Amino acid sequence: MDIGSRNDAVPLCSTAFVINGQQFTLELHPWVTLLDLLRGALELSGTKKGCDHGQCGACTVLIDGERINACLKLAVSLDGARITTIEGLGSPESLHPMQKAFIEHDAFQCGYCTPGQICSAIGLVSEGRVHSRADIRELMSGNLCRCGAYTNIADAIEDVMGQGRNQIREAAE
Ligand code: FES
Ligand code: FES
Repeated sequence: MDIGSRNDAVPLCSTAFVINGQQFTLELHPWVTLLDLLRGALELSGTKKGCDHGQCGACTVLIDGERINACLKLAVSLDGARITTIEGLGSPESLHPMQKAFIEHDAFQCGYCTPGQICSAIGLVSEGRVHSRADIRELMSGNLCRCGAYTNIADAIEDVMGQGRNQIREAAE
């Protein structure tokens, strides 16, 4: 798969990674971001593009369990990585605990920021740095919500935190 071709003089880079449990080996131009790869050639449009500059968090995905802004990550830098997007977290029959909590707490309105919020929240819980609601607000501050659903998002995360760090991480794998 040749992705991002706009200059034939630049050599392609063979890059292998696992996305949502599926192995890919792709021939990529070095300027292709993970976000453009996901939403373009791979048709995983659950990951959203907001600012495209690392400022809104809409594009947050999990890379080897860590939350990362996909718009700031060059795809060729991810050789050997394991990437999880919102599509890989659960299914309608078996939602990830964080997805369930967002529904139960009505933690979205338009939903545009929600895939990034959920991926970020899962990464946050796995980090084990949250000790209070104030920590949740502070450590989720990189994920903006133009609808202002922040209170319910914090409620959902607080709820899931009671289920333990390992369980949340395992559910995302
Ligand atoms: S689209 Fe990546 S941080 Fe806004
Ligand atoms: S739910 Fe609309 S931007 Fe967050």
